[in-house]
Amino acid sequence: MRRKLVIGNWKMNGSCAGNSALLAGIIAGLGKVGADCAVCAPAPFLAQCRAELTGTPVAWGGQDVSPKQNGAYTGEVAGCMLAEFGCRYVLVGHSERRAYHLESNELVAQKALAALASGLTPVVCVGETEAQRDAGQGVAVVTAQLGAVLAVLGADDVANIVVSYEPVWAIGTGKTATPQQAQDVHKILRAQLAQKNAEAAAGVQILYGGSMKPENAKELMAMPDIDGGLIGGAALKAVDFLAIIHAAE
Ligand code: 13P
Repeated sequence: MRRKLVIGNWKMNGSCAGNSALLAGIIAGLGKVGADCAVCAPAPFLAQCRAELTGTPVAWGGQDVSPKQNGAYTGEVAGCMLAEFGCRYVLVGHSERRAYHLESNELVAQKALAALASGLTPVVCVGETEAQRDAGQGVAVVTAQLGAVLAVLGADDVANIVVSYEPVWAIGTGKTATPQQAQDVHKILRAQLAQKNAEAAAGVQILYGGSMKPENAKELMAMPDIDGGLIGGAALKAVDFLAIIHAAE
């Protein structure tokens, strides 16, 4: 049985004081938690996450990683740097990076490799736009996105990744994929993982993201291949994030 995983993606939000209040609220309300949980914070706040989350059930991670190890790449953050600050996870290929920073499937694949090389768990984000979905290309788009990553991974690496299906049309829009719509895609993604490593694929956590909220989290996560959530807006309020984590248990 796969454990559920709920990750809060703070995106470009937060302040030292605000983060402290948010994290304290999460820790205070967590109780005995039966699911994995984490927050992915902007890089400048990772030291704060380490200071305030060490010894709690909440892990933390970055939102992006350089495909390079080190060197003259101004503005980039290397996997080893994230690891040094205690990160367990790093998002790669979030749709906002694909859209605003023109990240290609191949670049995302290199980022996933760099994360693994630093001992991080890459959370490989895939998702189609509304236009792609309307054109009947949704499955082709997400399988090409995941396929590019699988093409560079070793079979053993499959056990060390998380996948997140985030339909672009559902992100920040209040529109959510129905549980069945999401399940259909998750099942296809798991079958694709299984082509690389069948045993590992059965254990990979495949998250859903896109307007997941306390009101819809339980029914989404009740689907057989939906193993948790990647939460944007609702991760910025402790009560909402906690409700989603508790819905995952
Ligand atoms: P929302 O939950 O705000 O729709 O964002 C989803 C997301 O992009 C998480 O990475």
